[in-house]
This record gives sequence, C-alpha cells and structure tokens, in this order.
Amino acid sequence: MKPFVWDVDTRICFGSGQLDRIGTEAALLGRRALLVYGGGSIKRSGVYDRVCKSLAAAGVTHCELPGVTPNPRCADADRGAALCREQGAELVIAVGGGSSIDCAKAAAAAACCGVPSWELVAGRAPVTAALPLLAVPTLAATGSEMNTIAVISNPDTKEKIGMRAPALRPRTAIVDPTLPATAPPLQVASGAADIFAHALENYLGPEPAALQDALAEGLLRTVVRFGPIAAADPGCTEAQSELMWASCHAINGLLSLGKGHPWTAHTLEHQLSAFHDVTHGAGLAVLLPAWLTRTLDARTAPKLAQLGRRVFDLPPADSEDAGARAAIAAMRRFFAALGLPDTLRGLGIASDETLPAMARQAASLLRPGGWTPLTADEILQIFRACF
Ligand code: NZQ
Ligand code: ZN
Repeated sequence: MKPFVWDVDTRICFGSGQLDRIGTEAALLGRRALLVYGGGSIKRSGVYDRVCKSLAAAGVTHCELPGVTPNPRCADADRGAALCREQGAELVIAVGGGSSIDCAKAAAAAACCGVPSWELVAGRAPVTAALPLLAVPTLAATGSEMNTIAVISNPDTKEKIGMRAPALRPRTAIVDPTLPATAPPLQVASGAADIFAHALENYLGPEPAALQDALAEGLLRTVVRFGPIAAADPGCTEAQSELMWASCHAINGLLSLGKGHPWTAHTLEHQLSAFHDVTHGAGLAVLLPAWLTRTLDARTAPKLAQLGRRVFDLPPADSEDAGARAAIAAMRRFFAALGLPDTLRGLGIASDETLPAMARQAASLLRPGGWTPLTADEILQIFRACF
C-alpha cells in the first residue's frame, strides 16, 4: 500500500424520502441558493416541486440554472457562475444526474475563483475555493455526489476533462433511492456500468492490497447482482438503494487508497463522449472488455482471473490466462444483461474516421501508473476492435 491521507467530509442523508430534508440541509449551508438541474426530468417527476417547497419552508431563497445537458458544457457552468455572482448565492444545489452535479461544481468554483470555468478545468488556473455544494443525485452512476471531481466538456475544442479539487466535494449529499424510479432503463443500465467501471479501475493494478481488493470485490458483486434488476425495473427501491450506496463508494477515494489509479478506460471513453456525445457508462461497457483483452498478459491475468472467481463466481480455470479470458467473457455477459450495446456502432458512432484523432487525444491525456501504458497506436487498435 502507498501512503495516503483521506479526508471525506460529505454529510450523507441516505434513504427513501430523504429528499424532503433538502430545505433544512440547505439552510445549514446558506440562505440564498443557485439550483442547478437538467433538461426537465425533475419537473416531470414532481421532484422540482418538492425541492422548491422544502427550500421555501426552510427560508432558503433560490435562483435557477436549468437545462444542463448530458456531458455538461463549460458555457453552462459559466452561466451558473455569473448567476451566483449577480444573485448573491451562498450555496449551489444540484438536483439531477452526474452532469447537473458536475456543472454545479464547476459553477461553484468559477464563481469564487473569478476565471472562466474552462481555465479551471484545463488546469490553467487553480481551484482555490468554491461555494458550498449540496448534491441530490437522481441516478446511481457517477459518484459525483461524494467526490472531488467535475467532468466538463468544451464542444469548441472537442475536449472533455475531469478536474479535481478538495473544494469540489459536496458538503452534503441527499441520496434518496426513490429518485431514479423515473429514469429511462438505458440510463440506469449505463449508470450501473459506470459504477462497475469505477470499482474495476481501482481494483486493477499491480499494488498488493488485500482489504482494498475485498472492498472492491464486494462492491462489484453488488453491482453485478442489482444492476440488471434496476435496469429492468428502475422503480425497484431495494436495487436502487444498493446501487446508489455503491455509487457513493466506488469513486469517493476509498477504493483507490494506497494504489495507483490511472483511469485508463475512463480516459478512452471521455474521447467518445467528447467527439460523439456518447452516454458515458454505455461507452465504458463497450471499451472495458476490449481494453482488458488488448492488455492481457502474464502480469494482468492473475488479477483478472481472481475477478472471475470472486466477482462472477467462475470455477478455477486451467491457467491464469484462461481464467482471465473467462472473466472478460463474464463481464461481457453482465453488460449484455444490462441491455447495453457492445460496439461503437451500437453507440451511434457511424463512421470510423474520428478514431485516430480520439486515440491521439486519449494518449495525450493518459496519466502514468497502473499496469500497461498505452500509445496512441495501441489505443487506436482498441477503438478499432470495438467498431
Ligand atoms: O437532464 P434531465 O432531464 O434531468 O435527464 C437526464 C439526462 O437526460 C436523465 N435523468 C437523470 N435522472 C433521471 C433522468 N430522467 C428521468 N428520471 C431521473 N431520475 O438521464 C440523462 C443522463 O443524465 P446525466 O446526468 O448525464 O447522467 P450520469 O449521472 O450518468 O452523468 C454522466 C456524466 O458524469 C460524468 C460523465 O462523464 C458524464 O458527463 N462523470 C462524472 C464523474 C464524477 N464527477 O466523478 C465520474 C464519472 O466517471 C463520469 O465521467
Ligand atoms: Zn465513470
């Protein structure tokens, strides 16, 4: 295990009906809020009315940033930052998927740092502060509700980048497993694939870490068991409870403690989203098996074989290589059980002409660490294998 410091101060209000605490929880952070949400699902579901009522009852006034898109854009975060300054917001509330939460984070930081959000995302200016954040996820997916990350896109440059800073970690998260009931099954399935990918990317790697492995394996088993149930019936509160709790822990820093975590599959997927506006979790489900197959060797096989035995309950194989290949096949079956596509074409990418540019951009963003560094050519081969 590598040395670490772990500092998590998100207050979690978990369980059915917790949404109605939002007013009292918000009042602990400020009296004037910016409310950030997406394209209208919270209005159709009645969540918006409950939020407004609870805020008003607690004496919290608010202004609004509606219309945040999936793969949220820096321009929306800048609109949010301007609103915070003009309206004197003391906190930022996000109610929605990871896109709304990430946009709220970038707005909260840009409002305090006094620079356009893309300067922060691109790392040209530091995130020195952010308004306090309250996150209410309506999907089990990104874990943004409990982490220090905001993933923002710039359509002008076709870039999608994750920024990290302690100030971006929400002070409070209301995690109510009844909220994803209205989500489309494909979004629920993509969210489950995303949680799986977060735990898996933390799990893979050369560092020996028995407890970390066991934590990740427990989380992966939970997602494998409950993901298909929730995708078939988004209103199953039991399954959504398990997924939402898994979502919080898959990427809040816990599983990566003492390990390196270069986030290779994520860096590859972000190019699909940047160039083709692909749904993040669905993109990961296409790329993960191809990436693991391409990088399979004597160093990676034992860990993948262990994944097969401990997460997918596969019997011991004749060799580590056979065990690893069986684990990758089981992973493909899991993504199929979620109802997700297994090719780039299935994601709606009709032509392969952008693959070289996506591969070059992924190579330039890949961080060191993990098992297998990848060149742009090797990434291109992975993309082509998925096409
Ligand atoms: O926009 P609305 O109308 O709200 O509809 C959304 C959107 O169309 C809909 N939706 C969400 N909850 C719903 C619902 N519809 C009905 N009922 C509900 N309860 O789902 C669609 C997708 O929403 P989005 O927020 O994009 O989904 P998700 O939570 O999967 O977030 C994906 C984004 O987060 C980033 C991804 O790259 C992507 O941009 N990530 C953020 C991370 C982080 N901050 O730590 C890490 C992840 O690896 C990921 O990169
Ligand atoms: Zn992810």
